[in-house]
Amino acid sequence: MKKFDAVQLIFQPLLQQKGDSVWQPQREKGLAFAPTNIALCKYWGKRDEELNLPMTSSLSVALPEKGSMTHLSLHNKNEDVVVLNGEALSPDSQFVKRIKAYLDLFRQENTWHLLIDIQLNIPVAAGVASSACGFASLISALNDMFVWQLSMRDLSLLARLGSGSAARSLWTGFVEWHAGVQSDGMDSYAEPLKMEWSDLYMGILLVTREEKSISSREAMQRTIDSSVLYANWPRKVARDMVIFRQALQAKNFSLLAGTAESNALTMHATMLSCWPPICYFMPETIAAMQRVWQLRRDGLELYFTQDAGPNLKLIFTGKNKDKVVEAFPDLDVVKLFVE
Ligand code: DP6
Repeated sequence: MKKFDAVQLIFQPLLQQKGDSVWQPQREKGLAFAPTNIALCKYWGKRDEELNLPMTSSLSVALPEKGSMTHLSLHNKNEDVVVLNGEALSPDSQFVKRIKAYLDLFRQENTWHLLIDIQLNIPVAAGVASSACGFASLISALNDMFVWQLSMRDLSLLARLGSGSAARSLWTGFVEWHAGVQSDGMDSYAEPLKMEWSDLYMGILLVTREEKSISSREAMQRTIDSSVLYANWPRKVARDMVIFRQALQAKNFSLLAGTAESNALTMHATMLSCWPPICYFMPETIAAMQRVWQLRRDGLELYFTQDAGPNLKLIFTGKNKDKVVEAFPDLDVVKLFVE
């Protein structure tokens, strides 16, 4: 199924109710914020590349104040313009092309064009999930401007069509994205878990701000095509998801954070076994990991996770915050549950 047909399917009830006016902006502006999310149990591999349908379910936690604020307004020229952190981007950039293609899913011929003003307070494409919050805030801002009043489930289905991990970026807290089994993807959406953990922290350890060497999309596909270890990945995820649920229920920090670290390392090990190999580690990444392991041997409850980039996200609780910051002075510390 094509993305366009998936959109028609999601909009079917709305189209019956409102007809083609659904495809016209009802307000001059649209505005939405979406937090970024970091997976504790990673999404790695698609069962459908067109619809971003994952091979496995995944589980994330949001960074509540880090993310993307998207302002939309009508643009009277003949094309969409994307402004990122105050700078107009070239229409030829990959990011702009992706956004335009996404808007085309909702555009009947050339009826409207938008000025898309995105404010991101996280580095773009350095494995800090900027596309996740980018597409989640874009679909939420469209929902505002077109007054669709879609359910969160529908927004999650639509965000997924922009970027898989965007399906999880519509809530704060813990979020599970169900892999689903249907070929149209209507059962592949995310949902928040009713669970808070006020003492939980994540620290972003930036090794570099450079764009990643290979996109997640391409890396996932290469992993499926060439890694003999990939066959084990769904098994690892199934087991980890059970452990995550237990850890959340029992508020067992070392079980939660240790499983997240092991999950991320398994994902990267699987990637290393691709051909050509995929290695998101930089020497500084490895040095930071070894530092974490040493601190842990010394008794500090500190763990990490790593996405498709060289940066690490450290996971710890409030009581160890000062010690962690002492060990990593440049750490950008985020409290995961703000009261
Ligand atoms: C390693 O969601 O960026 O961050 O669906 O192709 O846009 P596309 O991929 P994307 O992949 C995220 C991969 C990850 C793990 C995760 O967030 O679950």
